[in-house]
Amino acid sequence: MTEITAMSGQTVGSRGYSGYECARVFDYDHELAETGIGTVAGEFLRRYWHPVALTSEVGDLPKEIRVLGENLILFRTTVGEIGLVHRHCPHRRASLAYGRCEKNGIRCCYHGWLFAPDGEILETPGEASGPGPAADVRARVRLGAYPVKEYSGLVFAYLGPSDKMPNFPFYDSFQTPDIIKRPYRADYNCNWLQVLDAIMDPIHTTFLHSLNGEVQFSEAMKEIGELQIFERGLQFLGTNTRRVGDFVWIRVNELVLPNFTQAGSAFTADGTRVHYFGRSSFTRWVVPVDDHHSMVLAWANFGDRGDPDKYNNQEGCELIEQGEVMDRTYEERQRRPGDAEAVEGMGSISDHQGENLMPTDRGVSLYRRKIRQLARNLARGEEPIQPWQFPGQPIRTYGQDTILFLPMKDEDDRKYLKNLTQAVMKMQFDAEDMPLDTRDSHIISELERIEQDGFE
Ligand code: FES
Ligand SMILES: [Fe+2]
Repeated sequence: MTEITAMSGQTVGSRGYSGYECARVFDYDHELAETGIGTVAGEFLRRYWHPVALTSEVGDLPKEIRVLGENLILFRTTVGEIGLVHRHCPHRRASLAYGRCEKNGIRCCYHGWLFAPDGEILETPGEASGPGPAADVRARVRLGAYPVKEYSGLVFAYLGPSDKMPNFPFYDSFQTPDIIKRPYRADYNCNWLQVLDAIMDPIHTTFLHSLNGEVQFSEAMKEIGELQIFERGLQFLGTNTRRVGDFVWIRVNELVLPNFTQAGSAFTADGTRVHYFGRSSFTRWVVPVDDHHSMVLAWANFGDRGDPDKYNNQEGCELIEQGEVMDRTYEERQRRPGDAEAVEGMGSISDHQGENLMPTDRGVSLYRRKIRQLARNLARGEEPIQPWQFPGQPIRTYGQDTILFLPMKDEDDRKYLKNLTQAVMKMQFDAEDMPLDTRDSHIISELERIEQDGFE
């Protein structure tokens, strides 16, 4: 007999064919899914920097974008400065999408008011100059504007209160030696949480990307490994450790709240040859467009410690992001679903109350709980923490693959894999206060030592 319960614990159907009993009893998680200004998660998200566009999307014309439910205009002055402003002109609300980019800012098409990237009204040409209404409005009114920073092909913005702006978070993977970063974008027709969940759900790689049809990444991903979660402040590390013959493959998925994600490589690592601290196939953010849409803005990472250079093209980025290319027919998507089909198929906002979270969903439960806690604290006036870092040093990240030659011993191999993973992660955590230029070589030599000495 099937027992169906809502998240509230209420039993809504305890027989077969209980479609009627199950219909319309679930709702979505309003606290985490809603991202507009004044909402619980929306305010939390507004305490962090987010990418909002690719640099290549900002041309000589203003660009309309939507972020966290706000309608905004991104533009570049003729001398190269980028601005991110509210869509509507504060004179009589014309859209600045039809504005003109000039040396000092953006000029409204309707009556020619000129705005600086920081929102200051620089000119009101139709009005009398000198003291009077025009001077008065320039002193009193601003066009809404947000701080932006362009870095390596992505445009980042901070949409929170101006007096709460944190430092721009500089992660170690922004400058991994020998890695070429290729910016890419992927749009999703669903709420941001659905897209974000997948990074703390490493087991879906076994099913969606491996056993469901074609193997989208590597053969060895078919196996369910030993799953563990390491929580460190805003950082969540989900390890999946697999035995592949005489090798042990430790793959680390990474989430730094609220929405920074990394993993191992998509194509290089397959568990069949040694690989020491290979870095993530992507450095990526899941950004809410509004409550029903989200966008991934990212770099795909190519080179010896990322994915092979032959994937350094648009199609390669799409395969890394979703396991499949994006522009496909409905039939193709049904026959070979990738991440987009899995998460968009839940609906534009999944009814979270209809979920039944399992032990393999522990990472998802933990990170959602943490966001809820931090967002509620903020609603009570406690500002959230920022990613941990030494002053002046990049934030340390751990998204990676490590593959060691460690043949199976005469003992419980699952336990061995679990203990080995804990030791490897601890060794890396212990090295986090080392200078960045020596940290990676230290970690790699420690991994070689574990391999040579064996792990007990
Ligand atoms: S509406 Fe923009 S200048 Fe009048
Ligand atoms: Fe996936």
